[in-house]
Amino acid sequence: MAAWGQPSVWGSQMCVRWQQKKGKGFPIEASRSTSIITSSSTTSVASSTMLSSGVSSKGFLMGPFQEGKLSQPSWTGDEPLSRLVSALISIKPLFALMSLGARQVLIGSAEKNGVPWRKLSEECLASDVYAEKDLLEDKSVIYPDYYVKNFHCYPDGNLSWKAASEVEAATSSMIIRAIPKAKNLEEAIKVLRGNWLRAIEDYHLVHSGNPEIRDILDVGCSVGISTRCLADTFPSAQVTGLDLSPYFVAVAQHKDKKEAAAGKRREKPIHWVHALGENTGLRAQSFDIVSLAYVIHECPQDATKGLLKEAFRLLRPGGTVALTDNSPKSKIIQNLPPPLFTLMKASEPWMDEYYSMDLEGLMYEVGFTNVKSQLTDPRHRTATGSLSNLQFRGEPSLLIIMYRGTSLLIVDMKWSNASEGLAPQ
Ligand SMILES: C[S@@+](CC[C@H](N)C(=O)[O-])C[C@H]1O[C@@H](n2cnc3c(N)ncnc32)[C@H](O)[C@@H]1O
Repeated sequence: MAAWGQPSVWGSQMCVRWQQKKGKGFPIEASRSTSIITSSSTTSVASSTMLSSGVSSKGFLMGPFQEGKLSQPSWTGDEPLSRLVSALISIKPLFALMSLGARQVLIGSAEKNGVPWRKLSEECLASDVYAEKDLLEDKSVIYPDYYVKNFHCYPDGNLSWKAASEVEAATSSMIIRAIPKAKNLEEAIKVLRGNWLRAIEDYHLVHSGNPEIRDILDVGCSVGISTRCLADTFPSAQVTGLDLSPYFVAVAQHKDKKEAAAGKRREKPIHWVHALGENTGLRAQSFDIVSLAYVIHECPQDATKGLLKEAFRLLRPGGTVALTDNSPKSKIIQNLPPPLFTLMKASEPWMDEYYSMDLEGLMYEVGFTNVKSQLTDPRHRTATGSLSNLQFRGEPSLLIIMYRGTSLLIVDMKWSNASEGLAPQ
């Protein structure tokens, strides 16, 4: 088994992983100093030797990752600059022109950095991936209005083979941009995915009360890149990847089958599910970790709340929800140059709502406890929350006993482990 920082090459997106003590999920490195903060200052992830590139000898980026001066970028929300950009984007011919330009820039910069965007897409489209969609698609799924929009310059958003065939390259391109100090794509992946995975495991160890991780759900798994990272990192867990795009999960499953045919079999094969993240149809209390990686910037606030409620229902007591995505407080994101933030807004319909949302507050509102948020790379935060082992269920009953003029109040609270019927607010 590979140690922390060593690449595990399941799939073309390499992922870091560290050894787990049998069934316990402890990392093999004894001395780690992760500082977890609640989003008000800079954050460091760990300490070890820094290389000149700013990447640690253990393969993950050293903090502190810097926060800007604002609570959210001025190009988002209701700010004048934000409204001006939104007005420009709403002019259809201008939007079409921007989308075209944006695509050329994305493809060009990816290929310049060694990501063979067009080749990967062509290979996918020429394969027999199409049959997987028939096997996985749940035809009863109703797509919410917020989902059937132009995302990432694709008129059909996430619901097309073209989008599905380009996801892997687009993800690599995003990672290269996010970790500019990395020497190459592999190093950038180690940093971005490694810090995220470490934040999850560290948090779970501290807050779960039982560090054993048996089942993991990756909501918004796309073509399975984050899902494979989770499966590589927690090899003893049964991992499920779920996405609302049947095209994307088809690509994920197709890749697994290709790898299995080439002799790369997992001890516990990943399950792929086509479903709505807010209403998965999966059994209550059947997961130890529910992860949403880069999902909620694609959702309006109501949908994010729905996703959190469903995660709450699916987690076992002591379970961990983890959301990683763009950080409104990231200095780099706050200082993006106008062409870049215009491009971002033009390709992400829910950007303004996302950046204005109080994610940590929403997590508490839904019922999670010990909510923590930290920058895990220069652009992204990972927010974690726990489903308390002890949950209050039902109405308290009051019993007041009068004894020689002194009243004794007995409150009979029905405390129990979170039960299947416990619905978050
Ligand atoms: C940027 S991709 C996620 C990437 C992936 N998790 C990773 O880290 O590489 C966002 C994904 O979320 C999915 N998604 C968005 N809203 C969803 C919802 N309500 N339920 C399930 N999946 C959703 C999209 O289809 C898309 O595949």
